[in-house]
Amino acid sequence: MTAKAPPHPPLYPRDWSRQPPALTPGYRTTRARSPRRRLIRLPDTPGALTGPLFSPEDIGVDDWDLLTNFAAPGQSAIGPRMIVHGRVLDENARPVPGTLIECWQANAGGRYRHKADTYLAAIDPNFGGCGRTLTDQDGRYQFRTVRPGPYPWPNGPNTWRPAHIHFSVFGHSFAQRLITQCYFEGDPFIPLCAIVGAIPDPGAAEALTALLDLDATIPHDTVAYRFDIILRGRRATCFENRPEGT
Ligand SMILES: [Fe+2]
Repeated sequence: MTAKAPPHPPLYPRDWSRQPPALTPGYRTTRARSPRRRLIRLPDTPGALTGPLFSPEDIGVDDWDLLTNFAAPGQSAIGPRMIVHGRVLDENARPVPGTLIECWQANAGGRYRHKADTYLAAIDPNFGGCGRTLTDQDGRYQFRTVRPGPYPWPNGPNTWRPAHIHFSVFGHSFAQRLITQCYFEGDPFIPLCAIVGAIPDPGAAEALTALLDLDATIPHDTVAYRFDIILRGRRATCFENRPEGT
């Protein structure tokens, strides 16, 4: 006789009114990128539903620390030192432990270490701009980094992205991966950004803004911001890969 599976907690459907529509003309590239026809749901493959799995052994000891994970020995990335931390929570505010969080960002001058980035700001030889970590048993994560600079982007004659960090939350399999980005409290570029403006619900846009967390700062060393990621429910974080992650 087999044991009965425990009842699954209630599943809250994603509130699409809080998610940005695929076509937002003010965000210029969505005109070309948004689908013109009905979406087709492809069946998930067994591989996409079951993996990959990550364990602490897969993560390097410096992977969470963008100040040093790309730096020469004894060197550090240049820029205002910053901790970004928070929790990954489900729709019932329960922590999601052991999930892979990846982040990527521009350097303090606003330039990505990518061959397609032609912004004139200098490359920092000690900054790669990528990090990863696993949430702990309480769903907590932390990255140490430099505050990214704002950068110009070709959405109009004079358009700038607010300082931001991109986040990916992997979940239990590739099919659950969710992607978003966080901004920082007080940045005057936030209300001017067409990507932020694509989010129809002001509360959902506000939830992407990391708040200054004075209690988590390190005196004379590093400022701290808090950014919680909520996977579902009425307070769910806005995710960019809208058709996926349902
Ligand atoms: Fe970016």
